[in-house]
Amino acid sequence: MKIKSAEFVMSNTDVAKCPKDQLPEYAFIGRSNVGKSSLINMLTSRKSLAKTSGRPGKTQLINHFIINKNWFLVDLPGYGYARVSKSTKKVFQKFITAYFEKRRQLVSAFVLVDIRHEPQKIDLAFMQWLGENQIPFSIIFTKADKLKPAQIEKHVAVYEEKLLQDVWEEMPNYFVTSSTKDIGKEDVLNYIGQINEEIKGA
Ligand code: GTP
Ligand code: MG
Repeated sequence: MKIKSAEFVMSNTDVAKCPKDQLPEYAFIGRSNVGKSSLINMLTSRKSLAKTSGRPGKTQLINHFIINKNWFLVDLPGYGYARVSKSTKKVFQKFITAYFEKRRQLVSAFVLVDIRHEPQKIDLAFMQWLGENQIPFSIIFTKADKLKPAQIEKHVAVYEEKLLQDVWEEMPNYFVTSSTKDIGKEDVLNYIGQINEEIKGA
């Protein structure tokens, strides 16, 4: 899929105030600093469409971007960031949860995990919660530029093993990406493009 246009639409903390358009929507979620906003910029080939930062906790709102004037990408705050206060964390958690529970237009979530790390409890718990709420998702491994190909394979295998051992019967759909090296861009975009076509044809 080619990206012809990518525009910021709005930011807010209330799912009820998100765009009313009935367009297919894809949301990026994961721990703070995992690279959600960077991935959105990489996918859209726009350097600073979504705001990024080396310091965790940059994205604090639900941000809608409209792509090719017919589908939405959504940048969300990270979960599990220790340095925001407990009360801020609770507010985040509330509106993120409400977003996933109430946003009818949401076609699929992408749960981002840093490929360098062992499977983290909070990510596994979030995926389980999505599963329990019947919200489709794919895993996106980020920062693949930081590992050698053989290590990438090994880390994915470890992740798969952990998921299968815990709650999942099969490995969820996944992508290996790097926003600095443009890895995985076509795969993710084609995946979204294919679903959009299926929705249109249905
Ligand atoms: P919050 O908004 O705080 O939740 O973070 P985020 O998940 O949106 O992360 P963001 O995109 O702001 O990136 C965090 C840091 O990771 C920045 O310093 C990015 O430059 C860096 N980063 C993101 N993606 C990659 C990647 O693929 N490779 C490398 N090497 N660094 C990356
Ligand atoms: Mg962000």
